[in-house]
Amino acid sequence: MENIFHRISVRKYEDKEVEPEKIEQILRAAMAAPSAANQQPWEFYVVTDRKMLSLLAGTSPYAGCCKDAPAAIVSCYRRNCQLPDYADVDMSIAMENLWLETDALGLGGVWLGIAPLEDRMAAVEKVLNLPPQLRAFAVFPFGYPAEARPQQDRFDSSRIHYVR
Ligand SMILES: Cc1cc2nc3c(=O)[nH]c(=O)nc-3n(C[C@H](O)[C@H](O)[C@H](O)COP(=O)(O)O)c2cc1C
Repeated sequence: MENIFHRISVRKYEDKEVEPEKIEQILRAAMAAPSAANQQPWEFYVVTDRKMLSLLAGTSPYAGCCKDAPAAIVSCYRRNCQLPDYADVDMSIAMENLWLETDALGLGGVWLGIAPLEDRMAAVEKVLNLPPQLRAFAVFPFGYPAEARPQQDRFDSSRIHYVR
């Protein structure tokens, strides 16, 4: 579990391709996530096309690091999943799995917030020309890290409330 305490947001990447086996392993971790009623609402787009990565960089004011990333995973969910109210929760768990596995493989990435902001979701859907049954959830540029730092220590015992 050491990756929980090692994972950071990585926004700078080496100019080096990520091996397809590693990308598949990251997506295996994402799809290992639990979901409400086991609905698995996800679909994942793996983007390595440079023009597409530049376009994704413009889908939110805070997505600029996509431009120079070797790859990005765009996570999406199906509108018609069994429990749509839980789709964001399910997708978030999958994103954390994906992020931790990225770290475990010696790679780095960052979750770029898209959902639930309608304008960003629509922008990503337009760039990827997603089918109407899919909603964009998040963009995750990743690669071999060109930055490193220890994770911020956020443990705060005052946030823990024991009911005895
Ligand atoms: C839901 C969510 C949305 C985020 N959106 C962005 C974003 O749009 N752009 C960005 O550079 N980082 C984004 N981040 C990364 C956070 O800024 C980062 O996780 C936080 O500052 C803690 O830093 P750490 O990941 O290095 O521990 C997002 C993270 C989460 C969980």
